[in-house]
Amino acid sequence: MTALDTLRGKYIEAIAAAADEAALEDVRLAALGKKGEISLKMRELGQMSPEERQTVGAALNRLRDELDASLRARKAGLADAALDARLKTEWLDVTLPGRPRRMGTIHPVSQVMAELTAIFADMGFAVAEGPQVESDWFNFDALNIPPEHPARQEHDTFFMARAPGDARPPHVLRTHTSPVQIRAMQAQGAPIRVIAPGRVYRMDMDQTHTPMFHQVEGLAIDRDISMANLKWVLEEFCRAFFEVPSVELRFRASHFPFTEPSAEVDIRCSWEGGQLKIGEGDGWLEILGSGMVHPKVLAAAGVNPDEWQGFAFGMGIDRIAMLKYGIPDLRAFFESDLRWLRHYGFAALDMPDLAGGLSR
Ligand code: DAH
Repeated sequence: MTALDTLRGKYIEAIAAAADEAALEDVRLAALGKKGEISLKMRELGQMSPEERQTVGAALNRLRDELDASLRARKAGLADAALDARLKTEWLDVTLPGRPRRMGTIHPVSQVMAELTAIFADMGFAVAEGPQVESDWFNFDALNIPPEHPARQEHDTFFMARAPGDARPPHVLRTHTSPVQIRAMQAQGAPIRVIAPGRVYRMDMDQTHTPMFHQVEGLAIDRDISMANLKWVLEEFCRAFFEVPSVELRFRASHFPFTEPSAEVDIRCSWEGGQLKIGEGDGWLEILGSGMVHPKVLAAAGVNPDEWQGFAFGMGIDRIAMLKYGIPDLRAFFESDLRWLRHYGFAALDMPDLAGGLSR
């Protein structure tokens, strides 16, 4: 047996015996490191005769390559074993059910806004917005409610303060979403189809009134839009919103300064055993105001009333939320009582959509 055979046997054995990657690295250094045994032997080649160098050099190269390959193989084996061992201690069953964590709920008003937006979007209405602090021109004048008009008193308006000495009329907290009609038509002109859900403010507080509440405005202007279109849109909306196969609406002649003719709309319902049912019965519930947009309102918004016409409506969101979800007291909507919110709130990740169902 030659000296190289002995060397080979020693390192092959040491490689097999190395228990982990650190021990294996020690073996590698001892054999192939700068000062390793094989490297030193390579250095001795210089002192040999050319013939000797050829045979010993080739044998050393072979030995070095063999040990190198064997080290790599052992290293990969050790790494696999280490990973196996780690996975055994760290295993995770991804099929286990998740750990539920209590998340906030969606407020019924937000839920209803999302529901009605989905329904009207399906009928081609975009969402328009306007400021809650509004000029009195947008909130009143542009809607054909001049300064001395009695409707101004009926609105129980909150006025913003002006700087002392500033004689301009004060801004108001918008008393309805109707000013968004004007803003939307100014921005977009005609034809137009928008809804404007949002907060409105009036000085009022009892079981059915809060100083802040929510409305949704609807506006559809085109060349030949009529009350018949209004009726269809509202019926379609109520059927989808209340999730009933059919509804019956009653149009009652009414008066609003910004529409001519004007109608208040009631929905057929029944009260049996304190339970409200929409769509059947002998009762009627008022749900909105509506009409054909007054020519003066179109003109104020820069839309030519000789060319364009259409309908508008305004509906109380809190009201229809109470009706749909059987919530008795409006004031509770805004008291932030967590027990109430958990009871009436909606799952945070279920967005209403027409295909999947509005209120799963
Ligand atoms: N702005 C009215 C209110 O707050 C509701 C309303 C009635 C809006 C008739 C309309 C409408 O657009 O046509 O009482």
